[in-house]
Amino acid sequence: MTRERRRFEGKVAIVSGGADGMGAACVRQLAREGAKVCAIDVKIDMARALADDLNREGGTVAAFRGDVLDEAGFRKALSDAMAEHGRVDTLINVAGGSASGLVSELDLEVYDRLYRLNFRSTLIAAKAVIPTMRQTGGGSIVVMSSISGLRGDPDWSAYNSMKAALINLTQCLAWEEGQHAIRVNAICPGPIASERMLATISTEHAQEYNNAIALGRMGHPSELAEAILFLASDQASFVTGAHLVADGGLTASTAQPTSWAKLPRKAAPPRTGD
Ligand SMILES: NC(=O)c1ccc[n+]([C@@H]2O[C@H](COP(=O)([O-])OP(=O)(O)OC[C@H]3O[C@@H](n4cnc5c(N)ncnc54)[C@H](O)[C@@H]3O)[C@@H](O)[C@H]2O)c1
Repeated sequence: MTRERRRFEGKVAIVSGGADGMGAACVRQLAREGAKVCAIDVKIDMARALADDLNREGGTVAAFRGDVLDEAGFRKALSDAMAEHGRVDTLINVAGGSASGLVSELDLEVYDRLYRLNFRSTLIAAKAVIPTMRQTGGGSIVVMSSISGLRGDPDWSAYNSMKAALINLTQCLAWEEGQHAIRVNAICPGPIASERMLATISTEHAQEYNNAIALGRMGHPSELAEAILFLASDQASFVTGAHLVADGGLTASTAQPTSWAKLPRKAAPPRTGD
């Protein structure tokens, strides 16, 4: 459980969606950098197994069952997590999810669900930690948006619009809480090869993603955790209200069809490590 960087020594971090994917990668890296971590997830067995692994390495990680769609249960998990160490310095909201469908065809209930899953859950968590952070002299919040929140895509209005709203919420919160030394930033990942993502797309679809990314490959959850932990850490002490794009260059292109033919497509070497 040692790492060269110990940016979170003595800090307490709460990660929603901390059992798997990018959330688990954040929990792992926070623990290895000295944070006491509380992972909240609907997949409690997976969260506990991760906590046990990290605690065996010398970390301090606790797992709490919480479904962000069950508001009372989620509030209880947040309150239990805050009580665990009596404070919270960092909140990272990773739990979220998507659904597709054309505006003309998609039921309004799907929009409502994605609102609760992505936006309302982030609000609930922020409202829970802010009073404590104010009392203890500040903190940092990282909101999980997406490059989907920066552009329009056919079939993805429910997801994209929620991720866009989260960027604006981040900016509003940054202004409201700046005076209390609470920084609020959003992360906008591009396609990340989490287990869930890999399970939901075909090999051809994955190749299409790779072709659209300047680095020629999807990101690894641990690469996103690095970007998220930068925003959460004191290294970003003058960064608030920002959204950091970590997408391997996907949104750096306007996808001009004529330019693709001249570009040999070759993936950059993947990052090694967990
Ligand atoms: N994977 C990508 O390509 C990608 C890109 C941009 C943004 N995102 C966003 O990142 C976040 C995580 O994505 P991921 O691919 O790492 O997903 P993931 O499914 O691997 O991980 C998300 C974690 O959240 C938990 N979770 C899901 N629903 C929950 C709920 N209702 N209550 C509590 N926990 C819940 C899951 O159990 C899991 O542990 C999501 O908000 C997603 O919208 C993902």
